[in-house]
Amino acid sequence: MFLEDTRDAFDSVAADYDGPRGNNALIQDMRREMWRWLDATFAGGSQLIDLGCGTGLDAVRMARRGHHVLAVDWSPRMVERTRDRATEAGVSDRVRTAVVGGQELERIEGRSIFDGGYSDLGALNCVPDLSAVARESARLLKPRARLALTVIGRWCPWEIGYYAVRADWSRVRVRFRRGMIPVTMNGHTVWTRYWTPSELYREFAREFRLVHQRALCLLAPPPYMRWLKDRHPVWYERLWRWDRRVAGWPGLRRLGDHFLIILEKR
Ligand SMILES: C[S@@+](CC[C@H](N)C(=O)[O-])C[C@H]1O[C@@H](n2cnc3c(N)ncnc32)[C@H](O)[C@@H]1O
Repeated sequence: MFLEDTRDAFDSVAADYDGPRGNNALIQDMRREMWRWLDATFAGGSQLIDLGCGTGLDAVRMARRGHHVLAVDWSPRMVERTRDRATEAGVSDRVRTAVVGGQELERIEGRSIFDGGYSDLGALNCVPDLSAVARESARLLKPRARLALTVIGRWCPWEIGYYAVRADWSRVRVRFRRGMIPVTMNGHTVWTRYWTPSELYREFAREFRLVHQRALCLLAPPPYMRWLKDRHPVWYERLWRWDRRVAGWPGLRRLGDHFLIILEKR
C-alpha cells in the first residue's frame, strides 16, 4: 500500500514537477550543492547509479559531464521524464533508465558494476526498508565505491520555528514521528520516513563506512519558503554562504531540512 500510493502520487505530478510544484528555485539551489559534492566524489567517466532519479535533472547533468548513468525510479512517469530529458539533451547514449524501486534493486543483475551511486533530495525517504537498499547497493558497487545521498532529516530549525510561531504543534511533530508518515501531494499520499543521519547510517553500517556528513539547508530556508528568496535575495545568498561554511560542523551537521551523507563500500 505505501509503495503503490507513493508511486501514484509521483506519477500524478511527473509532467509538471519541474517548476513551482517540485523542482522550484530553492530546490535547485540545494541540488547545486549536491552537484558540488558529486563532482568531488566521482572521478570523470564513472559508471553511476541514480536511485530515485525523478525527472532526470541529476542524471542528465552527470551524463553531460561524461559519466554513464543508470537512472532508476519507482514512478514510471518519472522515468519517462528522465528518458525524454536525456534524449533532448543528446545524452541518451550515456543515460539508461529503468522502472525499479529502491525496494527491488535485486532486479538489477550483476555484481561490482558501478563506480558509485547517488540518491538526491529525499527519494530514499520513500523506501520503507533501507537495509535492503544498503545490501543491494553494496552488491552493485565496486569495492570502495561511494554512495552520496541527500535525505530529508528530522531536525529542521527553520521548520520548527516556522510552525512553532503559528502554534501548529502537530506540524512541528511530523518529522519526529516513527515509521512511514502520510504526506499529501496533489491529492495523493506520499509515504515518507524521516531520518537522523545516525539512524540512516545504522541501516548502511554493515556494508558501508561513513566518509562525510553535513546538513543541507540548515541556515538557508527550506524549499517551501520561496518568498524568502524572492523578498530578501541578498540575505538568502548570504545564508547559503554561511550554510556551506558551517553545515559540516559537529553538532550542526545532524540538523537541516535535508542532510548529505557520503558512504564508502567496505
Ligand atoms: C523528491 S523526488 C526526487 C527526485 C530526484 N532524485 C531529484 O533530485 O529530483 C522523489 C523521487 O523518488 C521517487 N520514489 C518514490 N518512492 C520510491 C521508491 N520506493 N524507490 C525509488 N524511487 C522512489 C519518486 O518517484 C520521485 O521521483
